[in-house]
Amino acid sequence: MKWGKYAGQDILPLWVADMDFAAPPAVLDAVRERLAHGVLGYGVPQPSQIDAVLDYLQRRYDWRIAAEWLVWLPGLVTGIHVACRSVCVGGGGGVLTNTPVYPPFLAAPRRSDQALRCVSLVCRAGHWEMDTDALEAAMLQNPDTKLLLFCHPHNPVGRCWQRSELEWIAEFAARHDLIVCSDEIHCDLILDDDKRHLPFALLDEEAAKRSITLMSPSKTYNIPGLACAFAVIPDASLRQRFVRAMSGIVPHVNVFGLVACEAAFRDGEDWRQALLAILRQNRDNLEATVARLPGVSMTHIEATYLAWLDARQLNLADPVAYFESQGLGLSNGADFGAAGWVRLNFGCAPALLDHALARLQQAIKNVALTPRA
Ligand SMILES: Cc1ncc(COP(=O)(O)O)c(C=O)c1O
Repeated sequence: MKWGKYAGQDILPLWVADMDFAAPPAVLDAVRERLAHGVLGYGVPQPSQIDAVLDYLQRRYDWRIAAEWLVWLPGLVTGIHVACRSVCVGGGGGVLTNTPVYPPFLAAPRRSDQALRCVSLVCRAGHWEMDTDALEAAMLQNPDTKLLLFCHPHNPVGRCWQRSELEWIAEFAARHDLIVCSDEIHCDLILDDDKRHLPFALLDEEAAKRSITLMSPSKTYNIPGLACAFAVIPDASLRQRFVRAMSGIVPHVNVFGLVACEAAFRDGEDWRQALLAILRQNRDNLEATVARLPGVSMTHIEATYLAWLDARQLNLADPVAYFESQGLGLSNGADFGAAGWVRLNFGCAPALLDHALARLQQAIKNVALTPRA
């Protein structure tokens, strides 16, 4: 998908959140081994696969979950939709989220016939933060809201939310009786050495009770095409509602996704560390380059391999089309709820990023020659 979009055109694909790297060797071996078995029937998660997830969460986050809290999913987007349909059933409700945000956060509530309330994040002194006053005001205006869709770490602004921020969310959710669906797909892609991912549900029992945590090995180990993800839902009745909303609609996870998940979680750590080193180098290179460019800016990326670029000062009628004309395929900020911005995926070889950054510099110079909005 990533490279096919611009096949036959001289446009570097830096859009969809797929990296250019082959999956870890341990994952590829596990998939080959499963294929060699030859029988590809319906799969169910095997005890070793479930254990791999439990071990991983304990090892990485000191998060001890019970096996029955796990609900396997073919993807996080599915989980976001199911969360909207299961939390807001009967008597309406509504969904709250922070923008800009990964586009399915905006589509899923609407497709579930739920009112969507968006509250903008604020950028203070080059640092993205939640606007707690605006979130409170949104709840005052819409007290029937039932679900907070929370992106943690945040795509596209690259924040690794810290304990005090999560505590605020937990207290806010408790006070307004909100379920928090925390999309933690980027949790193992923390780039800053002094930051750690803290699962929202791990804060305390009250937070756990009102949480649906969505996770997957897919972003970190670059295997989204294998379609394996899971929700962690500690509260039994919330979990039941979630499973009921999936029933008969959401397919089981395929057998390759399950073995890949186990291999990634058990044997992928060296590969992940090597990946983080490349992503940090790319992030630093990108930040240094953008800092020197007029008309475009970005904040420091703490997590993910996605950069959120403010191109509003360029006054382009169609930023994505303009950058495509300059050989760069970026994601459109308007899809994330912020027109004039673009998202750049730096999950690629450093040499390709160098090439892209040379094009970006030239593109900024060429703006002067281009009709403006
Ligand atoms: C925050 C976030 N959630 C979910 C997804 C996609 O999840 P999936 O491919 O498992 O549906 C992405 C992909 O970019 C993402 O950035």
